[in-house]
This record gives sequence, C-alpha cells and structure tokens, in this order.
Amino acid sequence: MIDLHSHILPGIDDGAPNLEMSVAMARASVANGVTVLACTPHIMPGVWNNSGPQIRQSVANLQKTLNELEIPLHLVTGADVHIAPDLVGAIRSGRVLTLHDTRYILLELPHHVAPVHADECFFQLLTAGYVPVFTHPERLSWIQQHYDLMRRLFDSGVWMQITAGSLTGSFGSRAKYWAEKMLCDGLVHILASDTHNVGHRSPVLAEGWDAARRLVGDDEAYHLVVTRPYGILNNDLPGSLPAPPVAQLEGRDEMPARSGQRKYRAARSDQHDRMGDGGISRWMRQLFR
Ligand SMILES: [Fe+2]
Repeated sequence: MIDLHSHILPGIDDGAPNLEMSVAMARASVANGVTVLACTPHIMPGVWNNSGPQIRQSVANLQKTLNELEIPLHLVTGADVHIAPDLVGAIRSGRVLTLHDTRYILLELPHHVAPVHADECFFQLLTAGYVPVFTHPERLSWIQQHYDLMRRLFDSGVWMQITAGSLTGSFGSRAKYWAEKMLCDGLVHILASDTHNVGHRSPVLAEGWDAARRLVGDDEAYHLVVTRPYGILNNDLPGSLPAPPVAQLEGRDEMPARSGQRKYRAARSDQHDRMGDGGISRWMRQLFR
C-alpha cells in the first residue's frame, strides 16, 4: 500500500517528537503493509513554520537512517498544508511542497470554523494546474452544516482523503459516520493513515482498507490505497485514474448502525486481478528507478 499522509519526521510538528519514534512509526507502517510513505508535516504559518528545503533535508536524513536499519520503507516528500493566501506562489517559490513534487497537494482546512474563502483557495490552485487533496474532511466539526461544500469541491476537481482511523472508529462515531457517508456517496479518492505516533495515532492503513472493503468492495478499496496513490506519485492526470463510484448503500442517508449491515452492489471488474502483487512491484520499479 501507499500511504500519502504521515507526520513521521522527527521534531518538526505534532507528530514524531524524536528519531526513535520516527523509526518505530516506520517499522509499524511496514508491518501494516505500507511500502511507500509520504512525509507530510504541517505547514501552517505562525504555528508550524516548516518549509520545503527543511522538509526535503529531514526526509533525506530519515531515509538514510531507515536504509541503515534495513527497514524497507521508501519515503517521499510532501506537506500537510494549511489553507492560506497565495499558495500557488508559495509552491512555485519552493516554500510549500506538493506530494512528491507532483501536481497534487495535501490541503487542510480549520477544524472548528468553516473558512469563508475556502472555495477561492481551491479555485486558485485548480486554475494554476494543481489538484488539491482535501485532508480528512470527515473529522471537521462543521461538516454536517457544510456537506454541500464537499460535493461542490468534488465536482470542481478537488480530491478527498479520509483517514483510515475514521473508518475503524478511532476518532469516534461522528467521524466514522461522515467517513462512511462520503465513501458511499462516491466522494473519496484516497485513504491515508495521517499517523502521528505509535500510540493512539498509529499507522492503521490496513485496518482502514479492510473497513473500506466491507463498504465499497475490493476493487474500489484497492483504488483507495494503491491505484490512486500510485497515480498521484506518478503525477498522472486525475481524469486518467478511476473515479470513485457511488455505492448503493441501504439506508445511507441515516446515521449508520453497523458497517456489516451495508450492502454494496457496484459493478465489479477484473482490475484487481490484473494489478496483483507482480503488477504493483512493476509500478514501483517504474516510479522510483
Ligand atoms: Fe495531517
């Protein structure tokens, strides 16, 4: 699996406080089935003043340590970018990083207040050729009042990333409900761990994947953790990657009771078989040669 959201870099945000924790998180990610991990520390002016060159150096240092310890995890650069004015200029100057220097950028909105100019920020990025990947909308306290914004952003070309732990219930029933609803409404492009440590914010992408499989089926769950994340790292055009399908979910407009009660009847394909383990290895070799 490819995990495109983590706070594994030591001592630069609210994630790993030191190298020891970073190494423990890397080991936990590998044990969870992750082979490529994006290091995406917060960039939030005045709170987390991280910058592109500093993040690149930190990723190189951590990769060197992992290689010395023979931990088979390939790191790529990125950032969890808080919404701010002139992000396009900040990307072009190198201060803000996209995912693996592609057109895709993780974008985070305030947790407790719906920003008035969110549309404008997304619009500026989209018209400059970037694809904003809206991080963990399901965990925002204001999602219920502004669910139409999610659909509008999706329709305008914004990608959505939900957190694996939201699907497993680690963030409570509310985040679980919205994660499941967005997934079944066909609004989610990728699943990521957003891991911060090996405690209550451990990398649990495999568990999230498993929960997603029960909701939307094997093929779409595979797209969430392999196909689309790989497409992002390969800088593929968003239109060339599979669009999220709408699940035919019984009673999905109501607060869900138990995931096991849901029925998903999307058309299946043989794509998963065609992209078996051999296929993934081939992709990886092409991507990182
Ligand atoms: Fe994050």
